[in-house]
Amino acid sequence: MNHADSKPLATLENLSVGYDEPLISKINMEIRPGEIISIVGSSGIGKTTLLRTIAGLVAPLEGSINLNVQQRGGLGYIPQKLGLIRHASVTHNVGLGARAGTNFREEPLTWWKRRSERVSEAIALMGLSDKADEPVRRLSGGQQKRVATARTLAQQPQLLLADEFLSELDEDNIEVVVQAVLNYLEKSGAAMILIEHNIARAVEISHRTFSVREGRLTEFTDHRSEQE
Ligand SMILES: Nc1ncnc2c1ncn2[C@@H]1O[C@H](COP(=O)(O)OP(=O)(O)OP(=O)(O)O)[C@@H](O)[C@H]1O
Ligand SMILES: [Mg+2]
Repeated sequence: MNHADSKPLATLENLSVGYDEPLISKINMEIRPGEIISIVGSSGIGKTTLLRTIAGLVAPLEGSINLNVQQRGGLGYIPQKLGLIRHASVTHNVGLGARAGTNFREEPLTWWKRRSERVSEAIALMGLSDKADEPVRRLSGGQQKRVATARTLAQQPQLLLADEFLSELDEDNIEVVVQAVLNYLEKSGAAMILIEHNIARAVEISHRTFSVREGRLTEFTDHRSEQE
């Protein structure tokens, strides 16, 4: 797909993020449908803060964020700290994502059926069907990561923000989860901003990789598009 032809889903202009002091400054970036952008950089440098700022959870210190996604469920966020309801079942947690992505007005008669289909489909994609009724607190760290991914896929977002969603997974699971997410992006035309500590993996998954150094976001590759 030629990303240059479509309207951006997110436009970051002169954006500075941080709490009291800026952590990352003067970010200018556009992300278009189908695009996958990865961000790497050492611990504590502000990657999660940037994602939380794009998600609207932290106020920008400077500059602007323009999102061109549906108000209901258009933005999907897989946080580094997962925010799952630990005593509730996998199905319940994933259902919350599907709920965020349901437009009740457009789907007045069919939303319930479609929502439960979405939930079981997302759970199956993450290989968790046999755990669907288990409370999340009884799952391993990697399984909980996959619940959070299923929750966001069930939401069917247009822009997916994923913060280290592959950590704690073994190689086999990484392959399954990455493939499921890439399939979703391809099918739906959604875009993703991915934070990933493994640089080789970040480069492999994404079209463009940025690293955070000295408070700036620098693009250091334009890899997948070169191969296409
Ligand atoms: N709510 C907060 N209030 C004030 N400072 C915070 C808050 N959350 C994080 N910080 C600080 O901001 C800095 C960047 O944190 P952030 O979580 O964005 O880093 P990160 O790049 O995601 O690191 P990691 O790779 O370890 O996840 C850290 O010094 C952290 O202590
Ligand atoms: Mg982080």
